Amino acid sequence: MTRRVAAVTGGASGIGEACARELARQGHVLAVLDRNREGAERVAGDIGGRAYTVDVGDEADVERVVAAIETELGPVAALVNSAGLLQVPVRPAELAMATFDEVVRVNQRGLYLCCVAFGHRMVSRREGAIVNIASIAGMGSMPLHAYCPSKAAAISITECLAAEWGPAGVRINAVSPGYTLTPAVQAAIDRGQRDPSDLARVAALQRMIDPAEIATAVAFLLSPAASAITGINLPVDAGFLCGVTWTQYGGLRQPLSNMG
Ligand SMILES: NC(=O)c1ccc[n+]([C@@H]2O[C@H](COP(=O)([O-])OP(=O)(O)OC[C@H]3O[C@@H](n4cnc5c(N)ncnc54)[C@H](O)[C@@H]3O)[C@@H](O)[C@H]2O)c1
Repeated sequence: MTRRVAAVTGGASGIGEACARELARQGHVLAVLDRNREGAERVAGDIGGRAYTVDVGDEADVERVVAAIETELGPVAALVNSAGLLQVPVRPAELAMATFDEVVRVNQRGLYLCCVAFGHRMVSRREGAIVNIASIAGMGSMPLHAYCPSKAAAISITECLAAEWGPAGVRINAVSPGYTLTPAVQAAIDRGQRDPSDLARVAALQRMIDPAEIATAVAFLLSPAASAITGINLPVDAGFLCGVTWTQYGGLRQPLSNMG
């Protein structure tokens, strides 16, 4: 049997890297896409895949890379869009529009461009599945005035394209991670911009998420086991969304020793 080809953007690091490793473990041939050439080559080398350098926000670059992947590895059956930029939590007055534009260019425009470049080919073959990495930040308000709207857009793009391409049998879903310990988040912690105990405290499971836990959910949505699922946004958040609203009641309660 020929092995199915999967492509992962942002595959050089964090959640994208974990997705690439999980999909390779499940038997896919991997195209690892990233603007970080060295990182993409490291991951691709580890899993017997192939690295592709790309800026997801650049339309011509994306088209060039998608055509090269399909020529060199074969038709792509599964796509994960994980390339993304985080942002510093500043007030609007301190948020340079150049930063705003770059976050939107990568997280919204780049995600859309990759969906369309790979998706058009999937539609022509009547086969394929896509997962977009959105965020819990796209589902509520945080002091991230570029990042939150860009992630809300990722969820909306997912829904619009799911309806557009469902009749062709192409499925597209979003996964919204909660606070996941990746190099990007670790760097923000190291800069003092995020406090790991704050991040963990409000989540029902009282911890951060391992990138591998996001990857298993992504792999499920890409697999035939999810054949009737399209257009959804699946939070993988260690219970952040159900826990955060308890803050106004003093926060989550520790279990009583005799009652659980
Ligand atoms: N870590 C979290 O807590 C968390 C939570 C929710 C959502 N997310 C989302 O998950 C995704 C991955 O985040 P992460 O934490 O793994 O970050 P990360 O920085 O570890 O990985 C992101 C990767 O994307 C690549 N990238 C950035 N801009 C690119 C571009 N223009 N073209 C190609 N590649 C580019 C980077 O080089 C990097 O390898 C992002 O979309 C992020 O918004 C992360």
